[in-house]
Amino acid sequence: MDTAPPSTSPATPAPPLLSDEALQFYQGGTAIITGASSGLGVEFARQLYRHVSVLVLAARRFEAMQALAEELNAIHPGVRIIPCACDLSTDAGRVALWEKVDGLGLQPTLLINNAGLGDYGAFADADEPRIRQQIEVNITGLTLLTRDFAYRAKATADKPAAVLNVSSLASTVPVPDLAVYAATKSYVSSLSEALAIEFASKHIRVLYVCPGPTPTNFGQNARRLDDRDIDRSGQNLLVVTPDRVVAAALGGLAENKIRVFPGKRVRLAALVFELLPKLLVRFILTRRYRRAQHQP
Ligand SMILES: NC(=O)c1ccc[n+]([C@@H]2O[C@H](COP(=O)([O-])OP(=O)(O)OC[C@H]3O[C@@H](n4cnc5c(N)ncnc54)[C@H](OP(=O)(O)O)[C@@H]3O)[C@@H](O)[C@H]2O)c1
Repeated sequence: MDTAPPSTSPATPAPPLLSDEALQFYQGGTAIITGASSGLGVEFARQLYRHVSVLVLAARRFEAMQALAEELNAIHPGVRIIPCACDLSTDAGRVALWEKVDGLGLQPTLLINNAGLGDYGAFADADEPRIRQQIEVNITGLTLLTRDFAYRAKATADKPAAVLNVSSLASTVPVPDLAVYAATKSYVSSLSEALAIEFASKHIRVLYVCPGPTPTNFGQNARRLDDRDIDRSGQNLLVVTPDRVVAAALGGLAENKIRVFPGKRVRLAALVFELLPKLLVRFILTRRYRRAQHQP
C-alpha cells in the first residue's frame, strides 16, 4: 500500500505550505526528527527549519543528514541543526540519541517519530531480520522514544509540546503481502489515540498522520532481493507528494488535531475501509490477493 517512485527534493525551498498561524506553534522550539536522512523526514526538516531554534536529525546515515544540515544552514544560519547517527532499532541507538540531546542540554518540544520501513511480499517467505527490523523501528523504537520524550519535554499550557507519529493508510486495513508493516502501523495509530488522551494533562499534543502512497525511498527499500513486487493496482490514484503530506501533518498538529489523512482520496479510502463491514473488507482483500497471485 505504501509506495510510489521517489521524488527528488528541491535544492531551494518551495513556497510555504503552512499558514503563519500554524508556523507560530513551532516557533523557537527544539524538534527531534527520526528518519531524517530521506523522504518524509527530510521534508519535515525542510518545512520546520526556519521556525524552530534547534533541529535534531536522527537516522543511521550521517552523511545524508550532514549534507541536509549544511544545505539548510546555508539558507538560514540562525538554526542549530544537529545530525545524530543512530540505529533506532537498538537500545544503543536510542541511548545515543538521548545522550546527544541531554549532553547538549536541550529540552525538546517536538518529537517526530518518522523513521520506518516495510517489506513487500508473502509473510511465509519473509526474512526474520527484516520482520524484526520493522517491529523494532516502527513499534519498539517509536514507543520508547515517545516515553523518553514525554519525560524530558518542555511543555506548558501556553506552549504545549507535541509528538507527531507517522502511521499509514495501511493502519486502517490489513494488507496481505505487507502484513507485518500494516500491523505495526495499526499499533502506531492505536498507541497515538491512547496517548493523545493520557498526555493532554501534561500539555503534550499527540497527532498521527496516515499517508497513502508517497514518492520517497520507502518502496525501493521495501522490495525484496528477488525483486518481485506486490500488486499496487489503483494506488496511483492515492499518491500525495511528500511536501503535501508533511504540510497536512504539521498543520493538523498546530490545529490540535489527533489524526490526519493527507489528500482527499486518501481520506475517502480510509473512510471506506472504516465504514465497510469487516466481512466485506475481507471479501475484497481476498479477491484482490487471489487476483495478484493468479489464483482462481
Ligand atoms: N512512502 C510511503 O508511501 C509511506 C506511506 C505511509 C507511511 N509512510 C511512513 O513514512 C515514514 C517515512 O518513510 P519514507 O516514506 O520517508 O521512507 P524512506 O525514504 O525510506 O525513509 C525512511 C527513513 O527511516 C530511517 N530508518 C529506517 N530504519 C532506521 C533505523 N534502524 N534507525 C534509524 N532510522 C531508520 C531511514 O534512515 P537510515 O536508512 O539513514 O537509517 C530513513 O531516513 C515511515 O514511517 C513510513 O512507514 C510512508
